[in-house]
Amino acid sequence: MGNSWTWLSNWAGLATAGGLLSAAFLSPASADDPKLPFHGADTHLGVTSCAGSTCHGAVEPFKGSNVLQNEFITWQRQDKHARAYAVLLNERSKRIARNLGIGDAHTAQMCLDCHSDNVAENMRGRQFQASDGVGCESCHGGARRWLGIHVAGSSHAENVAAGMFPTEDPVQRARLCLSCHFGESSQTKFVTHRIMGAGHPRMSFELDTFTTIQPAHFAVDDDYKKRKGAPSSIQVWAVGQSLALAAMLESVLDDKRNRQGIYPELVAFDCHACHHQMSNEVDLRWRPRAGVGLPPGYPRFNDANLVMLRVIAGRVDPDMAKRLTAKSVEFHKASAEGPAQFQGKAKELLGLVNDMTKKLAGHSFSKDDMNAVLKALVAESGTGELFDYAVAEQATMALGAIISAMRVGGFIDQAQLDKMNAALEKCYAATTDDELYRPADFAAALGSFRALVN
Ligand code: HEC
Ligand code: HEC
Ligand code: HEC
Ligand code: HEC
Repeated sequence: MGNSWTWLSNWAGLATAGGLLSAAFLSPASADDPKLPFHGADTHLGVTSCAGSTCHGAVEPFKGSNVLQNEFITWQRQDKHARAYAVLLNERSKRIARNLGIGDAHTAQMCLDCHSDNVAENMRGRQFQASDGVGCESCHGGARRWLGIHVAGSSHAENVAAGMFPTEDPVQRARLCLSCHFGESSQTKFVTHRIMGAGHPRMSFELDTFTTIQPAHFAVDDDYKKRKGAPSSIQVWAVGQSLALAAMLESVLDDKRNRQGIYPELVAFDCHACHHQMSNEVDLRWRPRAGVGLPPGYPRFNDANLVMLRVIAGRVDPDMAKRLTAKSVEFHKASAEGPAQFQGKAKELLGLVNDMTKKLAGHSFSKDDMNAVLKALVAESGTGELFDYAVAEQATMALGAIISAMRVGGFIDQAQLDKMNAALEKCYAATTDDELYRPADFAAALGSFRALVN
């Protein structure tokens, strides 16, 4: 099942990317959210229409232009999205498709919805090709109305008004990425446990880290900040946690997605609660977690994002942190009672999480906030809440986002940055492979952080 995180090994060195610190008041997820590119009303013209050498297909960044103009080359050569369709032709995909009995993976809607820009036939321009995979318009929105004006130099606001998706806004970006990196309410655009069982890799997502390693085809310079603003990495991380948790709770509440026969849909549960070694080594066996409150022998909801959100709330809104903590335990316990009880508590928890999203979208994280969140996160290891793999994995990416924000804000010097990156690297090493994960190694890696934040 393991996904080996080869890309993470050198991520510590990249903990310098990400946005610059500025007060950012973002739009919280709501009914007036712009439509995701997949659901928008504008025709998708295809990657070719963006890739001209004087447009976004330059080999080198253009001097004097406010965007890099080599975005297409970055995407084509380094971005896995450009290969998302091609992977549907490989052996692994063939086996998945065979196991599911869906014919060819590269023609199955169940795969194409996330591995290509699978908009309806009548929404495809002449140059559109499904084989482009996850292309520019999968994220930036169908270009029919904005292609012309943006070439002529329209402002970003004008582009957005003409259907460009506001990818710079962390709330909207989170909605966008999660629609494929977790899935959405649909018969097909959701990786169920059945699809995992057929051989699909486990998925995990953290908005700030994944924005950085995509890799970024944009530069957050002064001009960018003037045009678009630039939320800090820690705010992007925080907003991403809130929306990821909301997406999971929505899946629990979604009648189309919440059952697998007599079982609940297991992708919302902690994979390693079931898929772990049964060695008798005490360190690898089940442990009680106060934040869960379930007895041994129960599958548990994957609460990695929830643990992160509690840590964030502890600093940003302590009263909310108390309510989240209490509601989390009720929610976990309800999972052992029955579907109606579980959904009832999921709904209550989702209400709190949506309030948190609004709060975080308008919260500008200060240096003291960053220090406090970092300290609180590291302290969680002492409470045993970071024991499970999924939580350790999220905690590691969280540390990367916070360090990045501190560096960009100028709150730590090079010597501190080096020490923190060295400690971060140990956390990455301990979480590289979920199947070899040993909680004691992760706790030791966090120990080296503790020495730095006290
Ligand atoms: C909800 C969206 C979604 C659906 C539906 C989906 N996938 Fe994926 N798939 C992803 C994402 C996201 C990744 C990357 C996961 C990661 O690395 O974090 C991925 C990764 C993969 C990989 C591994 C790619 C690699 O580079 O090693 C294969 C193979 C794959 N998917 C095949 C399929 C097939 C076959 C189907 C249809 C049965 C399918 N996927 C359906 C989103 C989806
Ligand atoms: C997986 C999603 C995704 C894909 C695919 C993607 N982008 Fe982006 N793009 C982003 C994000 C996120 C940003 C950063 C936020 C922002 O500035 O809007 C961005 C920023 C940009 C920018 C803005 C730079 C600036 O300084 O304002 C340009 C231009 C751009 N992308 C062009 C492209 C082109 C061309 C393609 C296809 C070859 C492409 N993008 C594919 C997500 C994507
Ligand atoms: C239309 C669906 C779709 C959207 C939207 C999307 N992704 Fe992806 N993403 C994928 C698929 C599918 C893959 C796997 C491709 C592969 O491995 O070949 C992937 C892979 C990735 C990877 C590589 C992961 C790895 O294991 O190496 C990163 C990083 C990533 N996406 C970031 C993002 C970010 C950030 C956003 C939002 C700005 C985003 N994606 C939006 C479908 C999507
Ligand atoms: C409640 C327990 C439970 C949870 C939680 C769970 N699974 Fe499973 N999983 C199972 C069972 C039972 C099977 C069927 C085993 C078999 O067929 O031998 C299975 C099968 C699988 C298989 C196929 C195994 C094989 O031998 O080919 C994969 C892969 C898988 N699960 C991945 C995941 C992932 C990824 C997650 C988390 C998103 C997850 N599972 C969550 C119980 C669980």
